[in-house]
Amino acid sequence: MSQDAQSQFSFSALVRSYRDPHPIYAALRAHDGIFFDASSQFWLVTGHAATTAILSDQRFSSDVRFESGASPQADAPSFLRDAIEKGIIFTDGEAHRRVQNVILRVLGRMGKEAPANITAMVRQILAGVRGGEAFDLVKDFAEPLSLLVVAQLLGLPLEDEAHLRKLAAWSDTHGDAVSGYLRVDLQDITRLGGHFREVLAAKREAPGDDLFGAFIQEDAIFVDDDELIINCMMIFGAGRVTTRKVLSNGIPLLLPEWSRWGRAHRGDPTFCKRAAEELLRMVTPTRYLLRCATEDVELSEQFPGDHLIYEGEKLMLFLEAANRDPAVFADPDVFDPDRTTTRHMAFGFGPHYCPGAKLARLEIQIALELLLETFPALGADATFAPRWNPNPNLGGITSFRVCPFRGAAAPRTAEGGQGVELPTGVGAELGINVESSRT
Ligand code: HEM
Repeated sequence: MSQDAQSQFSFSALVRSYRDPHPIYAALRAHDGIFFDASSQFWLVTGHAATTAILSDQRFSSDVRFESGASPQADAPSFLRDAIEKGIIFTDGEAHRRVQNVILRVLGRMGKEAPANITAMVRQILAGVRGGEAFDLVKDFAEPLSLLVVAQLLGLPLEDEAHLRKLAAWSDTHGDAVSGYLRVDLQDITRLGGHFREVLAAKREAPGDDLFGAFIQEDAIFVDDDELIINCMMIFGAGRVTTRKVLSNGIPLLLPEWSRWGRAHRGDPTFCKRAAEELLRMVTPTRYLLRCATEDVELSEQFPGDHLIYEGEKLMLFLEAANRDPAVFADPDVFDPDRTTTRHMAFGFGPHYCPGAKLARLEIQIALELLLETFPALGADATFAPRWNPNPNLGGITSFRVCPFRGAAAPRTAEGGQGVELPTGVGAELGINVESSRT
């Protein structure tokens, strides 16, 4: 490949354009759905078929720690380092399966009561914002709902909202660091760990019927208390940040035609289930996953081109690109709750497939149903510019004001934000010219 063409592709531009990355993905995917980027030394995977194949291939490990000394947390005290680099998400094999089985078992057991519990939580939150002229869709709705649901799963007391919000803020720092975004106060992670250590001591005396209690009863699956705590911290973040982002970034997509979706919901009780699925595809809260090849893997036959991935090489799998692959989703930039293809990758794929998927789907579905019923004329507050969290992987809208009585006014989208149909195939206009740059 020419030096010129290589120099036009900017990896950092791709990672930085988290608010509107789809034109770059379209250009990359059209060139090669598995592309080796020499500047970052990462394989960038944007095709749906390639993402599915790699995530289900156990030769690619989730243990992607960068211990070569390049890691910004290499000198950190061990609890802090482990909290960022360990936990079920970064574990393979038997150790991973054991933890996942406990999570799935508890979620299965709680599943029966989940619809009633979540409905009560949404009603309570909506009662608090009802009657006002405007409210913040993120701070007043998506944030408390996602927090309450996961706090209940872990068995944290729900009464003291201010305390829970403090834990959530510390947990956001943890989520940022785990996803590789380090411009945060890492001491928050130690603070959250300290609090969960106190919860552990209290629950050892009286373990409840919750996930924390189940981990305590099966604590032989963990090396030590730190590992148990780190997994609870990870679940606290994994369940909150993602669901919050689907609601915060997804509902603004619906506001321009809110009354139409209200009619659809009244006419068809399955509408919100399908709409939730489509929002998961459109928003895809975890932009990308990382994997590392544990041996040489030859994918060139399956995916024509030079796709021999060497042992030790790392891959970035862009779930949100796979979710807009036109080979699988017709008109991928359009919100279409009537799609017959629902093979989206928002919850990942393969052995690490999200164990909280069922709970999250239910949460989003009930939130939509009750929002449509309570506020039939919801609209964006056009005088307010939404704010974003700049975490390139998990960051989403952090503040978005809505008016219950405004009607379906067109939202003023965040600069470059979602809420508009995105153009595709404009890579050339962005100066992106990709070629295989394997060196
Ligand atoms: C819309 C909401 C959610 C989305 C989009 C989402 C997305 C994901 C994705 C993409 C993964 C795969 C990670 C990988 O392969 O490396 C994952 C894993 C995980 N998620 Fe979720 N998640 C959501 C909600 C939840 C909830 C509510 C929980 C609470 C139980 C949860 C707990 C987990 C855990 C524990 C893992 C690690 C699983 C493993 O490594 O085997 N998630 N999630």
